[in-house]
Order: sequence, then structure tokens, then C-alpha cells
Amino acid sequence: MSTALLYNAAQHLRAGRLVAFPTETVYGLGANALLDSAVAEIYAVKGRPEFNPLIIHVESAQAAQRYVEWNAQAEALACAFWPGPLTVVLPRLESGGVSLLASAGLSTLAVRVPGHGLALELLGLAQVPLAAPSANRSGRVSPTLAAHVIEELGENITMVLDGGPCAVGVESTVVDISGSVPTLLRPGGVTRAQLELVLGCAVMDAGAGAQINAPGMLASHYAPALPVRLNALEALAGEAFLAFGPEAPAGAARNLSPRGELKEAAANLFAYLRALDDPRYRGIAVMPIPQDGLGAAINDRLRRAAAK
Ligand code: TXA
Ligand code: MG
Repeated sequence: MSTALLYNAAQHLRAGRLVAFPTETVYGLGANALLDSAVAEIYAVKGRPEFNPLIIHVESAQAAQRYVEWNAQAEALACAFWPGPLTVVLPRLESGGVSLLASAGLSTLAVRVPGHGLALELLGLAQVPLAAPSANRSGRVSPTLAAHVIEELGENITMVLDGGPCAVGVESTVVDISGSVPTLLRPGGVTRAQLELVLGCAVMDAGAGAQINAPGMLASHYAPALPVRLNALEALAGEAFLAFGPEAPAGAARNLSPRGELKEAAANLFAYLRALDDPRYRGIAVMPIPQDGLGAAINDRLRRAAAK
């Protein structure tokens, strides 16, 4: 691949546009993880009905430490498996500036260094972390050839980098090492036995283990501490009002998108929920959000935030 093309791709990514790129596992749909708007575009293009947390791709273990709270287990796993098909989940560092939408509002972040020369060159040139889910439409199989990506998403993205067929072909192993017991969240190229050998301890299996469902074990959904009231037309006494669109009543604490744009609302959603999750209020009242396009994903998250 020509350096000019790669440089171009890196500039597009920095500017917030989407570029699909090869990794050793599957092709990723990459966006600048520091920009809420670029991450919102990923969900829009994939047509995801919900905001799943995304994996943040970085060029080295050293770079990863700008975005997550590093620990001894991370160091051991990075030494053994990076670059390669392993993703680690760690507490996010607010100072890293990664979009809250990228981690679906969670206090943890999934990071990996992909084992593909082109991906590493791209990360080196872009100098921003890249959020990248598999580059397919929601509900379809992951692409392992550039041609698959063009078929799935060609019209909606700026560039597809062709790095040939992906060597691994299935997504990376995801292991949560943010808590006291390492937990396998998604099986992949790196096996549980390999992880246990390097860590020198048991790795819990989220698939089989019932414990994973214990409250607080896996904070898979961000929920504010305050009660959330949906489809509100105005705030009750003491509530913070989270508005949407030009019809917002005066005195709203935040407006997800004053112009009524769903992509903008998605980009602001988690940051605004967090900002309003403040003990000086007694609840968060949210205006109705249209259900079309990204609205479905926004409403899915809001319902989870409201269900206690
Ligand atoms: O091989 C791969 O990992 C590919 C290539 C492109 O790198 N990427 C990929 O990304 O599969 P994605 O977004 O499709 O998968 C993200 C996985 C999901 O299972 C998600 O639940 C989990 O990682 N995940 C991400 N952030 C998480 C977090 N903070 N806590 C727990 N799980 C997380
Ligand atoms: Mg996928």
C-alpha cells in the first residue's frame, strides 16, 4: 500500500471521517475515538439498534496507558500477546479523552494493539486511538476481506484499506482485568488456558459462570444513580431536564441536539447523562426522542438507564 494512501486515510480519521482497515482478526470500521461525533457515525453506519461498547485500537502498550488505568496483569498480557488478537478491559482514564459514547458510558474501556502491519502503520500516522467494531452492518457476519466491507458499507464510508484476507478470521478474545478476578467476556484467538498460563491464576468464564450476572460483577450498562423519567414534557420540582430538539422548554439543563439531529444527540447522550447525574437534582427527566434511525439506539440506552 502506498504511503500517500495511508497518510490520506490517517488524515480522514483525524478529521472525524470513517475508514475501514484490516486487522489480523477481521476488518474494523475505524473512527477517531476522541470525537463523539465520529463514534456516533459508526453506530449510524452500522445500523446498530443499541450502543455496544467498542474496542479502542492503539499502536502500543505504552499508548494504551494514556487511556486506561494500567496494572500488572495488563503488563503481563500485553508482553505476551500484543500486537495480537487480545482485548483487555480496564478502568478508563478520564484524562485520556476517549468519547464516552465509545464505551457506552461505562467506567471501563476495552483496548487492543492489533497484529496487522497496515493497522499499526495507520495508528502510527493517525496518532489518535481508533474505535473500531467489525466493519459489517448490524446483524451480519464480520468481514475478512476488503471486498466484504465494500459490499456491506461501501457507500457510507470514506475509505477502505485493502490488506488482503484476515489471518485469524474471528474477533479478538476479550478479557476483563479491571476487577479482582480476570473474566473472559468473549472467546477468540487467544484461549483461556493461554491467559491463565500468563496470569498465573484462574480466568473466570463469563459464558459459563453464573457469577458474571451478579450485580456489579460486569457493569455492562451504564445507569445514572438518579432515577430517570422518560418521555417527559417538562421537569418536575428538583428534576434536571434533558431536552431534545428545537421545541425544548426554557430552563432545560441540557439539550441533546437543539437542531433535533439524532446523530448529534447520540454523540452527547452519555456525557450529558453523566453531567446531570448530580446529587443537587432528585432525578433526570428526558424528553421523547424519535424512534427512527439512531433514535432506536438512543431509546434503548435510555430505557436501560431508566430501569432500575
Ligand atoms: O477482533 C476484534 O476485536 C475486532 C477488530 C476490528 O479489532 N473488533 C471488534 O469490535 O470485534 P466490536 O466492537 O465488534 O466488539 C467489542 C466487544 C464486544 O463484545 C463488547 O461487549 C466488548 O468488546 N467490550 C467493549 N468495551 C467493553 C467494556 N468496557 N466492558 C466490557 N466489554 C466491552
Ligand atoms: Mg461485530
